[in-house]
Amino acid sequence: MKIDLADKTILMTGALGGIAEYVIKALTNAGATVVATDKQATAPLQPYFPMDVTDPVAVERVVTAAFAQYPGINIALGHAGGTGVFPFETCDRETFDKVVAFNFLGQTYFARAVLREWRQRHIAGHLIFTSSFISRIPMAGISAYVSSKAALEMFAKNLALEYAPHKIRVNCVSPGNVAVGSSQKVYDEDPVYRAWVDRVSPLGQRNSPAGVANAFLYLCSPLADELDGHVLQVDMGVGLPKLG
Ligand SMILES: NC(=O)c1ccc[n+]([C@@H]2O[C@H](COP(=O)([O-])OP(=O)(O)OC[C@H]3O[C@@H](n4cnc5c(N)ncnc54)[C@H](O)[C@@H]3O)[C@@H](O)[C@H]2O)c1
Repeated sequence: MKIDLADKTILMTGALGGIAEYVIKALTNAGATVVATDKQATAPLQPYFPMDVTDPVAVERVVTAAFAQYPGINIALGHAGGTGVFPFETCDRETFDKVVAFNFLGQTYFARAVLREWRQRHIAGHLIFTSSFISRIPMAGISAYVSSKAALEMFAKNLALEYAPHKIRVNCVSPGNVAVGSSQKVYDEDPVYRAWVDRVSPLGQRNSPAGVANAFLYLCSPLADELDGHVLQVDMGVGLPKLG
């Protein structure tokens, strides 16, 4: 079946990252218009709005401007996120708070602005957050990240329930370890990380960014019209609980 997204206008955060490149390619190839945003001042793609998701005033301003120019935005991808390794004992409060702001609070600012537009315009939109398999598995050194992603998934489910009367749906994509961008760099440069990633992958390989993009393609399509409050795990099985 051919996926046709010609009637979709998709607003996306973190659109200049490694996975995003593949997601945007998949969505635009299927006919969607992607309105990209990212923290970076300029971008090699159009339409593009610079937006720092950790700045609630900027998020309100930019989302308002994006809807003024593209009033048909009917899908929003809260995709920006990421972390470094910050063991809790040596992680100062500012650093911890920054990771939470990037991975959780920023998503709530984005959701607030987008949902306000959809309610005012009576649009039955679809909000999709990017989580991570790590939301369900504790891992030393990234407590701010794992707790932010866990909170994000519950936030998505709660919004799904609250906005269902308005026919607005909220779902998550939850990738595993993806062979692209900053993760690929760490994989190439850090033998300890590489050994861990290879060991925890039941299928013996990481996600490809194109494989993760397929999950977005599906979720944005009418094939997923009956999903709401769902976390779509596209993680090569790395999120499976394992003993030993
Ligand atoms: N890469 C992985 O292995 C992996 C695994 C699971 C989940 N994820 C999730 O997928 C998403 C994308 O990950 P990625 O590895 O492709 O990212 P990436 O590190 O390649 O890109 C992140 C993007 O976010 C932008 N950004 C940074 N700070 C920002 C801010 N304050 N406001 C707006 N944009 C900002 C950067 O400019 C960059 O374009 C994230 O939510 C991440 O948590 C990634």
